[in-house]
Amino acid sequence: MKMKYTVAGLASLACIVGVQGHAVMQTPVPRGTGPKQVELCGSLVTTVLERDRAGPIENAVKSADSNYNCNAYLCRGYQYEDNVDNVQSVKAGDVLTFHIDLVAGHHPGYANVSVVDLASNTVIGSPLVSWDDWPDSTSGPPRNDTDFKVTIPDTLATACDMGGKCAIQWYWWSISNSQTYESCLDFYVE
Ligand SMILES: *[C@@H]1O[C@H](CO)[C@@H](O)[C@H](O)[C@H]1NC(C)=O
Ligand SMILES: *[C@@H]1O[C@H](CO)[C@@H](O)[C@H](O)[C@H]1NC(C)=O
Repeated sequence: MKMKYTVAGLASLACIVGVQGHAVMQTPVPRGTGPKQVELCGSLVTTVLERDRAGPIENAVKSADSNYNCNAYLCRGYQYEDNVDNVQSVKAGDVLTFHIDLVAGHHPGYANVSVVDLASNTVIGSPLVSWDDWPDSTSGPPRNDTDFKVTIPDTLATACDMGGKCAIQWYWWSISNSQTYESCLDFYVE
């Protein structure tokens, strides 16, 4: 616990001096790292991403070396193979509840939550939810920028019929410092 508060404290400090924002999906538990990510993204990029799970992807990509052979902008470079035990099974119409841990974020931007076809890195359909202004300081209580629900559309039965084909990706673009924050949740439609 002590560690957690220390990291959060440093993150807020970094934000106050205008370095960066920080946010990450907390619920449901998003995709995380593992050996496949190290293999594809390289250990240096993976280390930078892991040093601050709520940090911007750009920080990691800046340190890309010759071992960087993944796309860190797709699910933060986290790989399905490392997350096969964390795949949500859903049905059309199911409502999923999300919480984003906004560690530091006085950085206006916009955000959305979309279903991504993982093989082609394309968004399927329109975003499940989107915000023109994120984080939204006028929201709530209860806030609907960091706490929100999405409904599984009825158009995913074929495209997302097994794990590894689709993820729900939360995406925040911070305009003032041109930084990208993402979290992914693997799912398949039963
Ligand atoms: C989600 O937001 C990002 C950043 O603004 C944007 O690049 C992307 O096109 C948006 N996705 C959709 C499906 O609108
Ligand atoms: C959040 O709540 C505000 C105020 O009720 C509403 O205008 C806005 O559309 C909501 N946004 C989302 C993404 O639910």
